[in-house]
Amino acid sequence: MIMAETNNSVKNIGLRGVKVADTRISDVDGTNGILIYRGFPIEELAEHSTFEETAYLLLHDALPKEEQLEDFKKMFTEARELPAFVFDVIRRLPKTSRPMDVLQASVPLLGMADREPEDESRGANLSKAIRLIARIPMIVAGWDRIRNGHEPLPADENLSHAGNFLWQLRGTYPDPETAKDLDTALILHADHSFNASTFACRAVVSTRAHMYAAVAAGVGALSGRLHGGANAEVMKMLDELRGEDDVPGWVRKQLDSGRKIMGMGHAVYKTTDPRARFLKNMCFRLGKKLGEEHWCRLSTQIEETAVAEFARRGKTTIKPNVDFFSAPVYHMMGIPGDLMTPLFAVSRIAGWTAHIIEEKFGDAQGEKPALYRPSSEYTGHYCGKEACTYTPIDQRK
Ligand SMILES: CC(C)(COP(=O)(O)OP(=O)(O)OC[C@H]1O[C@@H](n2cnc3c(N)ncnc32)[C@H](O)[C@@H]1OP(=O)(O)O)[C@@H](O)C(=O)NCCC(=O)NCCS
Repeated sequence: MIMAETNNSVKNIGLRGVKVADTRISDVDGTNGILIYRGFPIEELAEHSTFEETAYLLLHDALPKEEQLEDFKKMFTEARELPAFVFDVIRRLPKTSRPMDVLQASVPLLGMADREPEDESRGANLSKAIRLIARIPMIVAGWDRIRNGHEPLPADENLSHAGNFLWQLRGTYPDPETAKDLDTALILHADHSFNASTFACRAVVSTRAHMYAAVAAGVGALSGRLHGGANAEVMKMLDELRGEDDVPGWVRKQLDSGRKIMGMGHAVYKTTDPRARFLKNMCFRLGKKLGEEHWCRLSTQIEETAVAEFARRGKTTIKPNVDFFSAPVYHMMGIPGDLMTPLFAVSRIAGWTAHIIEEKFGDAQGEKPALYRPSSEYTGHYCGKEACTYTPIDQRK
């Protein structure tokens, strides 16, 4: 029996620190708390760019010129014409369905709605990416309206991508400042190198499956509470706590019983996540404007108490991640708790599709892209010398 050689040091550690591929899209420096997209620090983009422009950057490896950005936005507008069957199917789903399940189920429907499903050229894949970026927010907002007994709203092409999402979700026009804050939050969530959902997308597309198959896997991976699902869990924690006085006892109890403080800790960052710093400032600014600063004070109280308590237990690297302050920010924007993870997908679809295209065309590897196929160590039974022999069911003791 031939067994592949296994390097024991990389087993059962969730591939931490294992470099599985080259990428030109983004990089995370976990020691120094630095995130870059296509060479640009996240702070530069969050301060100066828009989600649309950042999506272009992720997909094209360069910032657009004015005309290129206008064409890109026009493609978004056109993509918002969705064939009627998509919402006809979604309307038939149980109203209690979890929004991430609805989103994951809708991705293949979007594939069926694609007007060039068999075209696997780079141009067609870029068009599919733009259609997905435009349509995923429509599904998220549309589902929330449907489950609440309303009809999905038509898009308003005069609004930004973020502004249009808020309009299609709430049915009221957002004030420009709130739309800009959501736009910034979308920039911050748009990509994060080889996180679990992006890796899932890349693994699926390495089989030469199409973009929609890969994105459906990405949505599934994002839904988990250790990944994108954490923001919804943070909101539950804030709802459960309410008062700042509850925090010290609650944090200790949580840690003593081996439970996690959601929105804290990271597989790569061993210092504060740069996105969390940005979202914390946004939280206080929004909170002040809306008279809801208590959410940010409560979050800060949890942050400070938990960091001190972790340190007391010898864990000095667990700090807030992107989900910690995005939850109160989204809450103040009127986003229901169970739509917070779908909203993560509304942004991350830009990164997923960029990675799918990079993987599909071997853009960073400089050689033929390989099918992902890691090895595992078999630790199961052998009942004979080298293998089990089959005993018919009526002869088994
Ligand atoms: C994201 C996460 C899975 C990364 O953790 P990891 O790489 O598996 O583990 P780390 O090496 O960072 O953690 C080491 C220790 O800290 C603990 N730890 C990490 N994050 C923690 C948290 N948020 N609350 C309590 N304990 C935590 C782990 O349980 C582990 O404890 P142990 O050594 O006693 O078993 C983890 O921090 C976590 O579960 N966080 C909460 C969920 C979350 O916010 N996810 C979103 C990530 S963007």
